[in-house]
Amino acid sequence: MHLQELPDESDETPMFGGHGTRSDGSQPTGPVEWFSHLVVGVTNLDRSEAWYRDVIGLDVLGRGLLAEERPHAVLQMNTGQLLVLVENEKIAASKGGVHHGLMLTPNQYRRAYERLQKLGHKIEDSREQFRAHGEYSIDIEDPDGHRYQIQCHGPEAERIMPGAGIVDCGSAAKYHVGDVRAFKTGNFHLVRLKEGFLAVSKWCTHMNGVVIYQKVHWQFWCPFHGATYDRRGLPDPFMGNRAGGPLRLHPITFGPEGNVLVNTDEVISRTEYDTAQAVQPLDVAFASAPVLA
Ligand code: FES
Repeated sequence: MHLQELPDESDETPMFGGHGTRSDGSQPTGPVEWFSHLVVGVTNLDRSEAWYRDVIGLDVLGRGLLAEERPHAVLQMNTGQLLVLVENEKIAASKGGVHHGLMLTPNQYRRAYERLQKLGHKIEDSREQFRAHGEYSIDIEDPDGHRYQIQCHGPEAERIMPGAGIVDCGSAAKYHVGDVRAFKTGNFHLVRLKEGFLAVSKWCTHMNGVVIYQKVHWQFWCPFHGATYDRRGLPDPFMGNRAGGPLRLHPITFGPEGNVLVNTDEVISRTEYDTAQAVQPLDVAFASAPVLA
């Protein structure tokens, strides 16, 4: 919701999928690269045609244009795709979990939001509390109750979040190999690996959700869209992981008493893990510390 936080930008390139990029990381370029038409069942063709025309802003191409026996109307989006409304006596509306998601640019989203507001539509976000930073979304329903989710990603989704200065994590000698300790101040986890310490940022590289450590799985998990990372902060390469790369790190130094000091004001982005990223204090006790996992 929070439209007022959405900054101005001039990108008007439409996007054609919920969270999508091609497997090589590039964006689709053509209007029908991902889908050519969507068929929606309606109970009153006149009413629905008027709604999709006046509320969503689609162009009506005409009635009965397809080899479809039931009464139907064909409408077109400004990105080329067609919407086919087919009249049925009874339909199962896609309420609840099933919905159609439309990913817009921030400017398109702002315009859609203001238009719906002006038309007096009830604007809701059924999952507002689950949104990551920079994830804007509203839900609307057509006259038959088909749910549409209108979304965009603002620039905050990729912003580096502010730190909290130097955080003292206590004596290095108290951490065992395998330990992962969460720090609220500065939003990071301190991880003790065999080769040293990592201060792993909690901000998910997908859209700045906050990851949590799942001890039983030995992994970090982002509750916003389910990205998972191992204890080194590397994303799981399988299962449609949405992570945009490894979790970021903060530099570590050691105080005169052997305490681990994490500089949360500095952020290290990386593309892979290298053992040189793990930091060790220069003492013998560290090398012989007990191993838990
Ligand atoms: S913010 Fe989307 S998976 Fe973390």
